[in-house]
Amino acid sequence: MKIDSASMHARHLAACAVAREAGAVAKRRFLDRNSFTVGFKGPQDYITEVDGETERLIRTRLLESFPRDGFVGEESGGATGSAGPPVWLVDPIDGTSNFARGAPHFCVSIALVEAGEIEIGVIYDPMLDELFSARRGAGATLNGCAMKAAGTSTLDRAMIEVGWNMRGGAQAFLGLVGRIIATGAGVVRSGSGALGLAYVAAGRRDGYVENHINAWDCLAGILLAREAGGYASNFLAGEGLTGGGPLVACAPGLRDALLQAAAIEGLAP
Ligand code: IPD
Repeated sequence: MKIDSASMHARHLAACAVAREAGAVAKRRFLDRNSFTVGFKGPQDYITEVDGETERLIRTRLLESFPRDGFVGEESGGATGSAGPPVWLVDPIDGTSNFARGAPHFCVSIALVEAGEIEIGVIYDPMLDELFSARRGAGATLNGCAMKAAGTSTLDRAMIEVGWNMRGGAQAFLGLVGRIIATGAGVVRSGSGALGLAYVAAGRRDGYVENHINAWDCLAGILLAREAGGYASNFLAGEGLTGGGPLVACAPGLRDALLQAAAIEGLAP
């Protein structure tokens, strides 16, 4: 049985509170750069002690309030299950490479999925004290004010973020960037997929595309983009929840043009 609206509201409030709390920890540690060491999970895949520390905090807070919920974190894993209780998908620090290198562009990303729907999406940027928040069907806000995706309708006026990681391979990434640039769009990469999607919701970017992104990096941002009136492809249609997958999100007026330009194989529109 699905949880009721009041229980979902309680989870939304809890997600906002813990995102702020974990973000404050991450900010404090970020500003004290000698307090943590930096390592690698693989080539170009940064990890710091602070990722695990903040994930443990988020897991503890959410599961002490909602002990039956599932929890999957980027660092500690977990099982999503196919039905049953809702499951939290958490990236304690998205933009770890920025965090590790002293660049102040990273965030906490928390989503809740129930019965195949993203119900809650919360992204907190502690350096700018910006809380992006959405509940399915209730709109999206930035620090309490309603957000709206951009009104851009042509790619030659658009600024598109292209996400990159080592999983997709160089040729696939270069092909995607090439196809987007060929439309006349401007291309950026900021190093945080979650914030890239939050920026689409806020109208600061016109689109976000990536050949392969993990669920904890993008689910909160997908809900934010949709609730702000934007478009996001159907990430949960295939194996996105457990194995990640391709993603296109954008201002509503760019949907068809960006899907066509990105031309990502296996993407569910
Ligand atoms: C990465 C960032 C990056 C995106 C990658 C993610 P991390 O997450 O969001 O922008 O392109 O797909 O893996 O490692 O910073 O948590």
